[in-house]
Formats: sequence, C-alpha cells, structure tokens
Amino acid sequence: MGSAHITLHDKKFRLYLPANELVGVVEELAARLNRDYTDRKPLFVVVLTGAFMFASDLLKRITVPCEIVFIRVASYHGTGSTGVVQEIMGLREEVAGRHLIVVEDIVDTGTTMHHLLPTLRAKGPASVEVATLFFKPDCLRHELTLAYVAKQIPNDFVVGYGLDYDGLGRNLPDVYVAV
Ligand code: IMP
Repeated sequence: MGSAHITLHDKKFRLYLPANELVGVVEELAARLNRDYTDRKPLFVVVLTGAFMFASDLLKRITVPCEIVFIRVASYHGTGSTGVVQEIMGLREEVAGRHLIVVEDIVDTGTTMHHLLPTLRAKGPASVEVATLFFKPDCLRHELTLAYVAKQIPNDFVVGYGLDYDGLGRNLPDVYVAV
C-alpha cells in the first residue's frame, strides 16, 4: 500500500481506496459483465488515457469471448445541434451489429459520455453500455444510463489508478482523494 498522504503539484491528497479494495470492486463488475454478456462476444471500447489501469484489471477477469479496442475522444465546438462535435480516434473496428461496452475511468458531469454515446450509436451497434470505475452522481448534468458502475463516490477530486491531477498520479496503484 502507498503512503497515507501525497502531494501532487500544489495539492495534498489522502489515501482513499487502496489497491486491494479496488480489486474487489473490479472483480464484482467483471462477474456481472461475464453473466450478462455470455454468447454476445462484446467489443470493449476503452477510453484513453484514464481508463487504462482499470481496463487492464477488468479485462483480465472477463471470461467470455471478447474483443478490445482503445479510443481517444476529442471534443470541439462546431455548428451541430449540440454545439459540440465528438471525434473518436482509433476506432477502426466495424461496430455495426456488435455489443459495445464503453470502459471509462470516471463519469463526473457526464458530458464526455453524453457526446460519445450518440456518436457510437450512429454507427449501428446492436447495443451500447457504459462500464465505469467511478461515478459521481452529485455532479451529473446529463440524462445518462450507466449500466455498470464499479463504485459511486462523492463529489471529490480523486487521483491514482489511471486518474490524474494535471498529468500526475496516473501511475499510482491506490486511489487518493484531495484534502
Ligand atoms: P465528465 O465528462 O465531466 O463526466 O468527466 C469525464 C472526465 O473528467 C474523466 O474521464 C476524467 O478524465 C475527468 N475527471 C472527472 N473527475 C475527475 C477526478 O475526480 N479526478 C480525475 N479526473 C477526473
């Protein structure tokens, strides 16, 4: 286990979820996915960069046949109806007719998913669900259905296990919360 307190840039954090507790919540989520996706050969769509460590631990525990792709999303303001155009980079796989599971590190305001999900649905998949490590329900600003949430957390800023504070902290095996 890491130290009880760390400092990243100018901010202090305290230990919130040690690696052994994270394993437990990831295992529970993997078990649910294994039950729900038998015979559906899902395509896991991992959103980089924050989800890389969660995705690695989650996917090691997926026992149903599946495929994995890594994407990056870029939002820029355009003239579309939403005002925001979502560009997906790295999705070369054919997704029409497939069962997609978007793997995300954290859903905060929900803005990222609010724009990404319609872009994915427009490509004609059989289904699209979200599997997120963390969800901050108090911050949600969009109508979203999150079928697979490993852990709900309060409206606090967390780092570690893939999540960063201004570039730092992604490598930490434990999750820390800002104090
Ligand atoms: P949303 O679009 O507001 O739901 O936020 C999604 C993105 O914001 C996540 O994928 C993270 O990259 C970032 N984010 C939100 N909350 C936190 C946090 O507590 N720690 C680190 N990054 C966060």
